[in-house]
Amino acid sequence: MAPAPPFCPRCLTCVRGLNACPRCALAFELHGAVVDTIGVTDREKRAGQVEDFYSVNPFPGYAPGDTRGTLLDRSRRAHFLTSLDEAIPTDARVLECGCGTAQLSAFLAISGPGRTVIGVDGCRVSLKYADDFREKVGLDNLQLVRGDLFDLPVEERAYQVVISRGVVHHTPDPDEATRQVARRVAPGGVLVLGFYETWGRAVHCARRSLTRFRYEPVRALDPILRRRDLDEEKKRIWTEDQYRHPLEHILPMPHVLKVLESEGFGWIRSIPPAATDGGMFDKTPKPGAFGRSLLRAGWMARGFTDPDAGLVSLVARRLS
Ligand SMILES: C[S@@+](CC[C@H](N)C(=O)[O-])C[C@H]1O[C@@H](n2cnc3c(N)ncnc32)[C@H](O)[C@@H]1O
Repeated sequence: MAPAPPFCPRCLTCVRGLNACPRCALAFELHGAVVDTIGVTDREKRAGQVEDFYSVNPFPGYAPGDTRGTLLDRSRRAHFLTSLDEAIPTDARVLECGCGTAQLSAFLAISGPGRTVIGVDGCRVSLKYADDFREKVGLDNLQLVRGDLFDLPVEERAYQVVISRGVVHHTPDPDEATRQVARRVAPGGVLVLGFYETWGRAVHCARRSLTRFRYEPVRALDPILRRRDLDEEKKRIWTEDQYRHPLEHILPMPHVLKVLESEGFGWIRSIPPAATDGGMFDKTPKPGAFGRSLLRAGWMARGFTDPDAGLVSLVARRLS
């Protein structure tokens, strides 16, 4: 078990009051308990644009009165999150790459106090929200790190579970980002990689193309914007994220699977369909070419009602 934050994301040594790790010499700035390994250096142009974007639209947003209880309740209403939580051992080392405001990481840390969870993101503002929440609710098993996906300040092959959802498609090189994230998974460990899938995202791409003629999206066509129970700030951030993002790719699932297989991973499942009964990490039969086309056609068909707008997750295990 790691010490209370701030601790070094590479070797888990306490780094309170320091700007370099006394054990592994990782250099950083401390902002609150956030270990910032990027600092004020000029970032690659598109990485800088993506950070600027999330500084104005931190994702996902916290509600003003959020507590451990409200985050737990909200997360447990999401089937994906409960089945992920059920599948992760309660003493696991977990890494989230591109954690944003770290609601997923915070949920896993609260739900499993014996876990050590590290959340890495490139956006200082999102991490400030995350750290304020962490501090407010007194979470000692979550370390937040500002770092770049292409230069991750964490050990390779060291985490039983690595999660990266909604991130690699927002980088200049999604294949390399996928490899970097995958390399952090320990032998026998599991990667959960969520990305915008080409067929799954097709309906949203068509919906978004309408904004070429009309700046604002057509609310009735969007499953999030037409919801009455969501506040306008959430809808504003969704609109920016889904319709005006400065850097987005769409990735074909068979190609992403090939990248993972070349890194020594084997198929567990894709989501959707949802995993049931804590079985998210239980192997399912790997679909052949026809099966993959059927899955992808299903993702395209649910595009009209999909609240994730074509976000598909691949779950894979490191075999070698
Ligand atoms: C759509 S948000 C997803 C946040 C979170 N994973 C979730 O699902 O709620 C994408 C996140 O990826 C981060 N990101 C994008 N490119 C990055 C990079 N090169 N290095 C680190 N983080 C990056 C952004 O800062 C942003 O917080």
